[in-house]
Amino acid sequence: MVGNDTGRHDHERQTIQCGERARRLNPGAAGVFRKSLPHTVERATNGAALASSQRHLLGIEGLSRETALALLAKSAEYHEVSRRAVRKVPVLTGKTIINLFFESSTRTRTSFELAGKRLGADVVNLGGSSSSMSKGESLLDTVATVDAMHADAIVIRHTASGAPHYVASRIRAPVVNAGDGMHEHPTQALLDAFTIRRRLGRELDGVVVAICGDILHSRVARSNVLLLTLLGAEVRLAGPRTLLPHVPNALGARTYDRIEPALEGADAVMMLRIQQERLGAALLPSLREYSREFGLSRKRLDLAKPGAIVMHPGPLNRGVEVSDDVADGATSAILDQVEAGVAVRMAVLAFSAGAT
Ligand code: CP
Repeated sequence: MVGNDTGRHDHERQTIQCGERARRLNPGAAGVFRKSLPHTVERATNGAALASSQRHLLGIEGLSRETALALLAKSAEYHEVSRRAVRKVPVLTGKTIINLFFESSTRTRTSFELAGKRLGADVVNLGGSSSSMSKGESLLDTVATVDAMHADAIVIRHTASGAPHYVASRIRAPVVNAGDGMHEHPTQALLDAFTIRRRLGRELDGVVVAICGDILHSRVARSNVLLLTLLGAEVRLAGPRTLLPHVPNALGARTYDRIEPALEGADAVMMLRIQQERLGAALLPSLREYSREFGLSRKRLDLAKPGAIVMHPGPLNRGVEVSDDVADGATSAILDQVEAGVAVRMAVLAFSAGAT
C-alpha cells in the first residue's frame, strides 16, 4: 500500500471524477443496485483469491422498479420493527458493517449505524479526521484496509462524485453509497418514496411531487427524480435559473424558474437545502432574496393540493427554505423522513450484507 503520497490522492481524485464523467455519458454503466457477476479479487492481506457475489447500492440509476418496490416492501416491515419495544431482528448477526463518512452527516450516518445494530450486525464507524486518511493514506488504501477485516458491507459518504463506484470495483465487500458529491444519494430517495407512499396511503402512480431549491448541485434531487419517475410519479423541479440544470428537462422532469407553477396541485413538496458550501456568490447573491422568491411559506403551500405533505432531506435552514410554521405544521413529513431512514437502511443493509 502507498502511504503519505499526495500525488496518489490527486491521481485518485482524477480517476474518481473521470469515472463519474464516463458514467454520465454512458448511463447504462452507472451506479446500480446490482448483484454483480461472481468475480475473483486478490486480497492485499493474504494474497488468497476469493470469489465474491457483490450487491452494491451505488445509485438509483439502473435500479429496476421491481427491486425498488421490493426494498420499499421490506422497509415497511422494518418500520414496524423500529416501533416495537425491542427494536432488533437477528438478520445480520455475525456480520460486520463499516461506515466510512468522509463528509459531515447527522441523519444518514446515525441511521446507518442504528440500522446495522437493529439487524444484529457489528457496526464500526470511521470518519475522515479520525481515520489515517488525515495522515495521507489514500481512499482506496483505506477502503481496502477495512475490506481486509472481512467487512460484509461498506457504507461510504464522500465529497467526490463517483467515489463509491471507484472503490466498489476494487474491493470484495458490497458498497452502499451514502451520498457522493453532487451525484446520487440513493437511500435518501428510497426513504423519500417510502414517506410519500406512507403519508398519502397509496402508490406513486400519478402523484405530483414538486422539488424546489438548488437542483443543480443536489444529489437528493437527482436520485429522487430517477426513483419517483420510475415509480410513476410526475416530478417538477423549481429553482433560480442559476441553480437549475443547464439543459431544461434534462433529468426527465419539467423545470420551472418560479416556485408557484410547480406547486400548483402538488401532492408533495420537497424543499432542498441551500448548499452554501457549494455555492459561489455569483449563483446566489442573497439568502434573503432567495427566501423571498423561493421559500415555502403558508401562502405558497396553499397552491398545492389541500393536505399536501412538506418534505426536506435536512439539514434545514429554517426561515430560508421553509418557514417555521410550515416546517412544524400538521402536514410536515420531515421527521417521518428521518424515521423512515432507519427502516430503509435496514432493508438496504439486509440486502447487501446478507448476501455475503
Ligand atoms: N439528508 C442527509 O443526507 O442528511 P445528513 O447530511 O445529516 O446525513
